[in-house]
Amino acid sequence: MTAGSAHKDVLDWTNARWDRLESAPALRARAAEMAQRLAAEVAAGKLPFLSTPFMPALELELADLESGYLKQFKHMLLLGIGGSALGARALQKAFAPGQDLPGHTGKCLWILDNVDPAGLEAHLCRLRAQDTLVYVVSKSGDTIETIGQYFLVKQWLKKELPQDWKDHLLLNTDEQKGYLRQEATQFGMRTLPVPDNLGGRYSAISAVGLVPAAFLGMDWRALVKGFTSVAAPLADPKLDAAKLAAHPSFEFALWGKALMDAGYSELITFYYIPAWCSFADWFAQLWAESLGKGGQGSQPIPAVGVTDQHSVNQMFLDGPRNKACLFVERAEGPQGLPFPADMPGIFDYLQGKRFGELLPAEALGTRMALCKNEVPLLALRLGADDAFAAGKMMALLGAATLLTGWLMGINPVDQPAVELGKRLAKARLGAAGLAEEKADLLAFTTGNRDERGF
Ligand code: PA5
Repeated sequence: MTAGSAHKDVLDWTNARWDRLESAPALRARAAEMAQRLAAEVAAGKLPFLSTPFMPALELELADLESGYLKQFKHMLLLGIGGSALGARALQKAFAPGQDLPGHTGKCLWILDNVDPAGLEAHLCRLRAQDTLVYVVSKSGDTIETIGQYFLVKQWLKKELPQDWKDHLLLNTDEQKGYLRQEATQFGMRTLPVPDNLGGRYSAISAVGLVPAAFLGMDWRALVKGFTSVAAPLADPKLDAAKLAAHPSFEFALWGKALMDAGYSELITFYYIPAWCSFADWFAQLWAESLGKGGQGSQPIPAVGVTDQHSVNQMFLDGPRNKACLFVERAEGPQGLPFPADMPGIFDYLQGKRFGELLPAEALGTRMALCKNEVPLLALRLGADDAFAAGKMMALLGAATLLTGWLMGINPVDQPAVELGKRLAKARLGAAGLAEEKADLLAFTTGNRDERGF
């Protein structure tokens, strides 16, 4: 296909550099095996990310929440971390950016995904409990960063609203297990379930991300429609090798794995849709936590055009030749204000142009420079940067990540390595048991050190 493709949303493989990716043909030959595995796992209920069996009930629930309960609140305080926060933030920045602009008077979403004492206190001092819904999101229901905040926020609510505090809490957690579920049962709080087998980073298009989306008045139905248009074919029982091979997520996965095989150990995600910059962080977590296993993987590097042209782009272009790039752009953006006529002569080339013409020109310049510097580049070009397109992109990138993991022979839905740091932190705080971790901590913190003032 030549420039000016007839398709609305396009994956442009022109500069993907398949010529350098020797393992690609052998990987492509695995389509039948992958299709069989998809069918088996979908049938066993292990891939709700793709089959979304929870969606009909959730859509009813969201419509109900949207028309009633959520309307009462001006602020939503979301307590969650990792996959329980990053999707909601990306959606907020893309589709409800008002809060970051001067003069905002509408609804606000505050996402607390850290254990920053000053940050938490600032929110509790400034928010009016009466106007605030606290949305606690934790699939496990036990994550210390989220639950630690929950204890303090619950105490704040109880103090501010002794009668009604429970009405200001909405919990999204596992249906059966975990501390949050116990809390909900004990106090009869309003809850939503995180479906079984739906891992945090694959859960943005579930209640995890869609409740904040509904709260902020986004077109969450279009997000769901876009998402399922890409995900559902992969969950179709009639999926076969040919259909999988024709699905863009499979081609992406081949590319992702073949790049790793060829020594490309870093994957830049360059977003040239400014409001979509937080999707780069969402994808970074998805790719890194899913694929960094057993010495394999490629490091995702989130970047935003044009801002990062003036920060990290020099390294992309002329640093180590170990980088590939996913370049996300839209076919056409807003034209913006016209430049004034009285500009100095050195800016003559801007005469008669509009501010919105800078972004695509710079995107093209950077994309071409990356290609000329031999960075394998896949361009994801969207016809429109709307909620439907975002849903499609999220399904595509999620499915591609999952399939890349399968091609690597690792489990893309767990994250075992991050457990060690969590256990050590708990040991440090004096949790019961953890004898080995406590002994290791002692050795690590009391051994000889090489510390020098600066
Ligand atoms: O993607 C994941 O599974 C993780 O990033 C989790 O979302 C994160 O650790 C938070 O877990 P939980 O939702 O159980 O609190």
